Amino acid sequence: MPEQPSLAALHAALATVDDPEIRKPITDLGMVEEVRIDDDGAVFLRILLTVAACPLKDTLTKDSTAALMKVPGVSSVRVDLGVMSDEQRATLRSTLRGGAPEKEIPFAKPGTLTRVYAIASGKGGVGKSSVTANLAAALAQQGLKVGVVDADIYGFSIPRMLGVTGTPTQVDDMILPPIAHEVKVISIGMFVPGNQPVVWRGPMLHRALNQFLADVFWGDLDILLLDLPPGTGDVAISVAQLIPNAEILVVTTPQTAAAEVAERAGSIAVQTRQRIVGVVENMSWLELPDGSRQEIFGSGGGAAVSQSLTRLTGADVPLLGQIPLDTTLRVGADEGTPVVLGNPTSPAATALRAIAKGLGTRSRGLAGRSLGLSPTAR
Ligand SMILES: Nc1ncnc2c1ncn2[C@@H]1O[C@H](COP(=O)(O)OP(=O)(O)OP(=O)(O)O)[C@@H](O)[C@H]1O
Ligand SMILES: [Mg+2]
Repeated sequence: MPEQPSLAALHAALATVDDPEIRKPITDLGMVEEVRIDDDGAVFLRILLTVAACPLKDTLTKDSTAALMKVPGVSSVRVDLGVMSDEQRATLRSTLRGGAPEKEIPFAKPGTLTRVYAIASGKGGVGKSSVTANLAAALAQQGLKVGVVDADIYGFSIPRMLGVTGTPTQVDDMILPPIAHEVKVISIGMFVPGNQPVVWRGPMLHRALNQFLADVFWGDLDILLLDLPPGTGDVAISVAQLIPNAEILVVTTPQTAAAEVAERAGSIAVQTRQRIVGVVENMSWLELPDGSRQEIFGSGGGAAVSQSLTRLTGADVPLLGQIPLDTTLRVGADEGTPVVLGNPTSPAATALRAIAKGLGTRSRGLAGRSLGLSPTAR
């Protein structure tokens, strides 16, 4: 008969169990209300859920049972689920915010370690959302902690592209973002029933974006990507106001007309004093079966935007990569599996991964941080 395990051993085992949504140990979150063990090794565990309708309570039960059963001397585990009181939830929210006051955008604070990239374009349909979803998945695959905000309130498409179907769990006014392909994701599409359109004016857009940034529990992110709507509208200005240190990534196609509009979108950054991290050219060519390239939308757009934004900003705005046309990219987007994961050896996936690699390994340095200098000091 093995010796009866200590309560400390049981707690240590439970400390290895993460809440599936918050991704932190349940012991740190005040979720373990009671754990005891009988003489015959039968463990009783009572877990407090953040909300009664917690969609992942089965996972939680399974994971904690498995962890406890690994402790020598434990013969059986019974899990009882309760729900946190308002007070316990308030404590949890404060723990998650690291004691910081509520309603703060963590990414806008000085000294934040999260790099924020806003994916922008002049024209619609050039592939911003596809680039965002794929870069997010590729960066997460590199082991980085990644979040995506679908800032395209009217034309949201990120949930489908990343295959997110669930509704976010809400702990009072804190929103837990669903996780897909190891990426935390939030989109207005998760809150509107069916395929209903969102009909809002500018101030509402600003408020929604603010909520996505301040009320969503993002945890410690290495990188946050914002998928912007096309053009130079309200949302781009809101992003500049809410996260001044966000860097802009401009997406264009090779076409001259698209490139000109992309320049205009990029040049907003001059007015908002944001840094442009670089240009991505999408739909660059179609690779034919004989290996040759057909340049369906012409050529040179990405390079032209890179040069003109470099001239305009006085800072180097490199062409980060060229992504070919690729049917599997489109299919992956429709099916919720980004091509970098679903067809990783395809030409588009290879190009996207290379761009992600460049972004993921950039040093933080002072670049991109607002130094609080006057507008002329850029
Ligand atoms: N390299 C590519 N190869 C094939 N299809 C692509 C490629 N890039 C994007 N697409 C497809 O083109 C369409 C538009 O792409 P996407 O939605 O990413 O563009 P967008 O710039 O976000 O559009 P919007 O301005 O409407 O937000 C999608 O159907 C997408 O699957
Ligand atoms: Mg889009």
